[in-house]
Amino acid sequence: MKVLGISGSLRKASFNTALLRAAKQLAPAGMSIEEHSLAEIPLYDEDVRRLGYPPAVQALRQAVAAADALLFVTPEYNYSVPGVLKNAIDWVSRPPDQPFAGKPVALMSASEGARGGARAQYHLRQICVFVDLHALNKPELFVGRAAEKFNASLELSDEPTRKAVTALLESLARWTARLGPSK
Ligand code: FNR
Repeated sequence: MKVLGISGSLRKASFNTALLRAAKQLAPAGMSIEEHSLAEIPLYDEDVRRLGYPPAVQALRQAVAAADALLFVTPEYNYSVPGVLKNAIDWVSRPPDQPFAGKPVALMSASEGARGGARAQYHLRQICVFVDLHALNKPELFVGRAAEKFNASLELSDEPTRKAVTALLESLARWTARLGPSK
């Protein structure tokens, strides 16, 4: 089972990217998680799209198409999804053969605040409806007070959070098997 992991943060010391990297290590047997950076994705421009997808966008679209499931790991910016992630979703969501259609996805978020990015996740769930991604309902995972959950090397050191990530990934594996191939 190939899972494409996408972090909504570009910064080097991102807690969300660190959470994605923890998920790679905690993936259950039979699941591999590949990280795809959004650093090279340009701002969406419909004029550009009509001339052809830029190479970084094309690579992301192909990676989404090749994945059995997706894992979005995102910060919350101003109570919503960061522009970096929304912009990438906008590019991938366009025709032909928009590759999100029918795919399973799981969501995780980390924030230094207490609520762990919950509001961003609920906006992201709403976006998933329109692009026809099937978001895993349970368990939900909001990593609040993120600075206390990672060590100085940005390894996920908080044992309850490690267990919660493992449970989410196991649930994603069952959800992906239940939905079957998306195409
Ligand atoms: C934030 N942050 C934030 N946190 C939160 O819990 N709710 C919010 O609405 C916001 N809004 C917000 C806006 C902007 C523009 C920035 C830059 C930050 C704080 C944010 O969650 C925190 O910086 C995280 O550590 C960012 O995630 P990464 O980069 O560590 O993955």
